[in-house]
Amino acid sequence: MTKTANSMWGGRFAAGPDAIMEAINASIGFDKRLAAQDIAGSRAHAAMLAATGIISNNDADAIREGLLTVLSEIEGGTFQFSTALEDIHMNVEARLKEVVGEAAGRLHTARSRNDQVAVDFRLWVRDQCDAADEALKALQNALLGQAEAGADWVMPGFTHLQVAQPVTWGHHMMAYVEMFARDRSRFADARKRMNLSPLGAAALAGTSFPIDRHMTAQALGFDGPMGNSLDAVSDRDFALEFLGAATICAVHLSRLAEELVIWSSAQFRFVKMSDRWSTGSSIMPQKRNPDAAELIRAKIGRIFGANVALTMVMKGLPLAYSKDMQEDKEQVFDAADHLMLALAAMAGMVGDMTANRESLKAAAGTGFSTATDLADWLVRELGLPFRDAHHITGLLVALAESQGEDLPDLTLAQMQSVHEGITQEVFDVLGVENSVASRTSFGGTSPARVREAVAHWRKVLG
Ligand code: ARG
Repeated sequence: MTKTANSMWGGRFAAGPDAIMEAINASIGFDKRLAAQDIAGSRAHAAMLAATGIISNNDADAIREGLLTVLSEIEGGTFQFSTALEDIHMNVEARLKEVVGEAAGRLHTARSRNDQVAVDFRLWVRDQCDAADEALKALQNALLGQAEAGADWVMPGFTHLQVAQPVTWGHHMMAYVEMFARDRSRFADARKRMNLSPLGAAALAGTSFPIDRHMTAQALGFDGPMGNSLDAVSDRDFALEFLGAATICAVHLSRLAEELVIWSSAQFRFVKMSDRWSTGSSIMPQKRNPDAAELIRAKIGRIFGANVALTMVMKGLPLAYSKDMQEDKEQVFDAADHLMLALAAMAGMVGDMTANRESLKAAAGTGFSTATDLADWLVRELGLPFRDAHHITGLLVALAESQGEDLPDLTLAQMQSVHEGITQEVFDVLGVENSVASRTSFGGTSPARVREAVAHWRKVLG
């Protein structure tokens, strides 16, 4: 059976689409998420059409009221979405016609679905930038709480995941506060650049109607209208920037998640996840699994995947709009949903976890973690060149290791057998507490510096 032609453009069509054509073409299954943005855009457009005398005030009022009715139907779950009407734009307009009658037909004057979808999607992605910012701030606050509590707790710092030098727990937590601050600034940058309105670009060339693009831009909270109508309907770089920022943020999340997985293991015991953020095993009664951390670690897969997918969709598209671009939405929706979930889970998990001060301290003293302090002492106190000091310290590490001991366990006589100038004072720098306390350079790990950083970020976060 042949379907009837689409009521929105049926003039030149005798028959409706094939069922598979309808299936590949329709976006309503996912772009219904843009309903609120679509209606906000249409309300601004209608008000502008009346203000510029393009339609009557009566029609504009009817349209604007009717759109609120449609919105409440959608939000109330009573709206009947139709695949035959393809997308959110035509679903809303068709229902508007049922609600307000003939006036609805005037809404699409001086507009196209091309600028309509561009404005809807910008508004949606802009909201996501704000949501990411809020979620990142909450995560920073959770990290700050951990840093403040353990500003002077010693732990091993690692390079190559080998014990390197002692650091403080607070310092390690604050590293992530800085990383997530840069993520916030990336979302903020993207938001600033995307905050120009495509509305009024119409299909691609602008319009002959005397529209006021500044007015609609302002009504929708944009800084102004986009400068070129072809560009306005055909770029999705704002979505790519969002995905770029989301990808880097997800990389940061995955690194913290990985550390939490390692740290909560029986081999490390650096942290204990609360019951609220742990799962058990159905067969092994002893297990406390860090599933949330593992899932956060994995989210980068789909988020970076979305970034790659949309980049590939956009590559090589001629100006202006092409239907390929309808493939932008599901990728961004999915990436945004999972980023927000991961951020919320990470904030909850970090806020709830307990660092094990004793295990951190015990581990901090292993692996010759104060060898650099010893070498620095030889330079400072005996005036040795750093390379010589490095070599002598290496000999002392080898000596301690051959005895199954750590550096502070060597006797002064043993030390002097390697270099006769070494004195009793050297033992002061071999303790991990002294080691971290001495690292007072700006941005260093000493508790004093960490407390300054915590105070700074408390002020910034407000
Ligand atoms: N559903 C479409 C999209 O998401 C809306 C724009 C359609 N424009 C058109 N000329 N067919 O991209």
